[in-house]
This record gives sequence, structure tokens and C-alpha cells, in this order.
Amino acid sequence: MGVKSKAAAAILVLLLFLGSLWLQGGLDYHWDTCLKGYNQVNKFHQLSNSSGADAAEGPRILEGCPGQTFQVSMLLTHLLAAPAYSSDVLLQPYLSSWDELVKFMESLGPMVGLISKEIETKTSVIRQLALLAEENPEAELSPDVHSINSGNTDVGTKNNAEASGHASAYHSVRSMIWVELNRGLVDFHHQTDSGCRTLLRLHRALLWLKLFLEKLAETPVAGRLRSPSELCREAYQRTLANYHTWFVRRAAELAFIAMPERGFFFRLVCVQNQDQLSTMLTRVVEAIEEVYNRTQKALEENGMLDLP
Ligand SMILES: *[C@@H]1O[C@H](CO)[C@@H](O)[C@H](O)[C@H]1NC(C)=O
Ligand SMILES: *[C@@H]1O[C@H](CO)[C@@H](O)[C@H](O)[C@H]1NC(C)=O
Repeated sequence: MGVKSKAAAAILVLLLFLGSLWLQGGLDYHWDTCLKGYNQVNKFHQLSNSSGADAAEGPRILEGCPGQTFQVSMLLTHLLAAPAYSSDVLLQPYLSSWDELVKFMESLGPMVGLISKEIETKTSVIRQLALLAEENPEAELSPDVHSINSGNTDVGTKNNAEASGHASAYHSVRSMIWVELNRGLVDFHHQTDSGCRTLLRLHRALLWLKLFLEKLAETPVAGRLRSPSELCREAYQRTLANYHTWFVRRAAELAFIAMPERGFFFRLVCVQNQDQLSTMLTRVVEAIEEVYNRTQKALEENGMLDLP
């Protein structure tokens, strides 16, 4: 008993530490900024839903799943609303997708939930930047930002541009990249709190979750289904582990050991069996892939895949 609880305490300490190192950069900005971001998240939602694009075009494909905080239908709705124009991603539905993914991770138990805290701080950083930009719009940038995506050279008044929802620097991944580059906010050599480097951290974590869900969706023709814990660790090793130190990798692997069994995932998304889980998760994975590929291309085109 004593040995067990000591081991548990050691693991908890490791994980608390991991929580702050996760995605490399939890210690690099002030908590007051972060908390302010939390308080204003709702405000940003209200500011940003005027774009019209986040009201999912497609039909509401899935029913809600009673008794669950995480709603796979909400996740899909947000993911499907994120791609915009030919190659862009809208930040508001992108961050809303992360809100739902954070609930997903939190439902996997306190161990993985600690990891999700770090992701929440990342989404707060971008939301905070978006709010600041809304409060202090730089009028001269608006027409250019507007034309990045629409190809529209039409220079409206500042108010018109704002009313259309396209003027915000943090409207989309590409507008954010463009504005931060132009304002000299992206540091390619030192760690900063730019939206771009923060997005890169989220982007890397998204690949991990995508791979994990993809693996959970796989149904082997013969042989047994592998445990979620094993699949999550494998997904991690192929993705995020490449960016983590030895210590963080060991701690992360401990976190995955405590992951629930497959039956838990059936209940989480309200399905009865592996076939149904597979169908559901495949849809989610496809939606994530579209968002991921677009973000990847935007970051790659701007040489931002290795921002410190
Ligand atoms: C945003 O959505 C909320 C509720 O969905 C609505 O009450 C509000 O008027 C919307 N805001 C804008 C600017 O459209
Ligand atoms: C995403 O990119 C990968 C690799 O480039 C490609 O194989 C895949 O088909 C792309 N998926 C989508 C939905 O664009």
C-alpha cells in the first residue's frame, strides 16, 4: 500500500511538471495574461460569430450524446466550420474544436487531463491576442488582410471591413500569419508568445490526437483490438515525442498507462460497438485532417514549422 501510494504521488508530481512543460512553453508567459484570456473567451466568441462562417454549413449530422461533457457532434460541427476559402482555416471554429478536444482529453482521466491544461493555455493566448487586436485595430492593415483570402482588392471603410468580420488580424490562420509577420511579432530565433508559435504547438498536438483517433478507428481483420493506452502511446511516439525531452517523454508515457479501456470510448461517443466507433471516428479524423493539412501548408509556406 505504502509503496503504491508513494509511486502514485511520484507519478502525480511528474505529471504536474509535465503539464507545464507540455508543448514546450508553459512557463514562458505570465499567468495574469492567461487568466485574463480565460475571462474574455466568451466575449471573443460573441465578437467572432458575426463572420457567418462558423454556423456550420452542413446539416447537423449527429445527435448529442447524453450524459457526456465531450460531444463528438460539437467537435465535428466546429471542425467542419473551420476550413474557409481555398486554403485557409478560421481561428474561431479552430479554437472551438480545441475546446471540445480538451473535454475529450479531460474525460480520459486526470492524467491526460493535466496535458490538456497546457493546451487550454495555448488557446487562451491566441484568444487574448485576438481580443487585443479587436480592441486596437490597425486601420491601415485591414484592407490588405481582407484581400489575403478573398482576392478582393476592394478597399472598404474600416468600419465596413470590421462589420464583415474579415478585418480582424486573428480571423484566420493566414490573416494571423500575415499580420504577425508584418508587425514583426514572429521571432524565428527566440521563444515569444506570438500567435504563430502558439498555433504551431497546437498544430503538433493536433497531429497526435488525429493519429490516436485514427488508430482507435482501425479494426483489424484478424486478431484482437489493441488497447487505447497502447495506441495513444504509439501515436505520441510518432508525433509529439519528437519535440519533447527525454524527461517529458517518460512522463507522458506514464500518463498513457492510466488511459481507459476501449469500452469507455464507446460510451463516450454513444456507440455500441467497434464498427460504429470506427465510422464515427473516421469522420472526425477526416475533418481534422482537412484542418491539419491547411494549417500545415500555411505554416510551411511561411517557414514556420520550427518556430522556437
Ligand atoms: C453571437 O451568437 C449569440 C448566440 O448564438 C447571439 O446572441 C449574438 O447576437 C451573436 N453575435 C453576433 C455579433 O452575431
Ligand atoms: C493531407 O495531407 C496528406 C499528406 O500530404 C495527404 O496524404 C492527405 O490526402 C491529405 N488529406 C486531405 C484531406 O487533404
